[in-house]
Formats: sequence, structure tokens, C-alpha cells
Amino acid sequence: MEELAREKEFPIVGRQVGSFLYQLAITINAKSVLELGSGFGYSAYWFAKAVGEDGQVVFTDLSSENIDLARQFFKRGGFQDRIQIHLEDGALILDEISGEFDIIFNDIEKEDYPQIIDRAYNKLRSGGLFITDNVLWHGRVLSQDNSPPTEGVRGFTELLMSHKGFYTTIIPIRDGLSISVKL
Ligand SMILES: C[S@@+](CC[C@H](N)C(=O)[O-])C[C@H]1O[C@@H](n2cnc3c(N)ncnc32)[C@H](O)[C@@H]1O
Repeated sequence: MEELAREKEFPIVGRQVGSFLYQLAITINAKSVLELGSGFGYSAYWFAKAVGEDGQVVFTDLSSENIDLARQFFKRGGFQDRIQIHLEDGALILDEISGEFDIIFNDIEKEDYPQIIDRAYNKLRSGGLFITDNVLWHGRVLSQDNSPPTEGVRGFTELLMSHKGFYTTIIPIRDGLSISVKL
């Protein structure tokens, strides 16, 4: 998967973040994970490993090409039974899906980040983690850049840090991960 990401210049979270996501998931004994923006399944693969045979990862992406690739990788890894694949908008699925999750991982288009916060809050269990990638956005959040993705990440971070229902820390590994625990 890492080789394919390099060839296609596809932005996966990479091994350092993947391994950290795995650690977070096993630390809270996560059994249900909802991913928003799964690409061809690299981050989902780490979560699938963490939740174990009795766990479930809900995978969402808007590209059927990514989903076809993901299916092949999950089959090769023997994880197909613990991953539920949806060709669907991550924000919409938060409104529709039933149940509560131990972890919600957000990696969709950056301009859509702000609209995810309250929706994710409503679908997490207490003590569950809302994790978002790219909150440093390659440093652009501190630049003069006012493009919609940069504004999206900035607005998201402001809302998240002041959210009364989450306790949040930003971990500056790779492109920055926010880790918010639902209070
Ligand atoms: C950065 S990539 C995801 C990488 C993946 N999390 C990983 O590390 O392996 C972002 C993905 O989000 C998908 N995407 C963008 N907006 C989305 C949305 N609103 N709902 C679901 N998927 C979305 C894109 O198709 C793309 O594959």
C-alpha cells in the first residue's frame, strides 16, 4: 500500500501516523471505528488490525476506484470481514448511520472539516476519540493563505479547541493530528 501511494502520489497517513492510530485504538480497546475519507484503505488497515476479529471498521470514500483497490488489499490481509465499505459522503454517513463509535477518524476534503465536529460528537461514545489528520496543513494554517482548504482547517481547529464536549490535543507528527476525547 505504501508503494502504491508513492507511485500514485496518493496522500496516505504513512507508517508513523498509522502505527500511532493503531496504538490509540488498542489503548482504548476500540471495537468500532468510523473512517471519513478512507482512500484505498491504508489508515483503515491499521484500524482493522487494532479492532481484532470481533471489531468493525466502517470505511467511506467517494471514489469507486479507491474502493476497488481497498477491497483487494483487505482480502489479501484477511480483513474483509471486519470492514464495511461505503461509497458515500463522510458527512452524510454521520447523519445516517446508527450506533455509537469508539473512534471516528476524519481525513476528508479540508474545506468540509468544520461541519464534521458536531456530527462526530453525536456518534461517539463518552471517552471515545475523534481524530483528524492534517491539522497543520503543511504549515499553511500559519501563512497568509486564505484558500478554502486552509480556511477549512483553521476554522475547524478553532471550533474544536473551544468545543465544550471535547478535550483536544494537537500532536505535531507528520502533518499534525488532532486527538479529541469526548467528555
Ligand atoms: C487523504 S485521502 C485519505 C487517506 C486515508 N485516510 C489513508 O491514510 O489511507 C482523502 C480521501 O478522502 C476522500 N474524500 C474526500 N471528501 C470526502 C467525503 N466528503 N466523504 C468521503 N470521502 C471523501 C477522497 O476520495 C480521498 O480518497
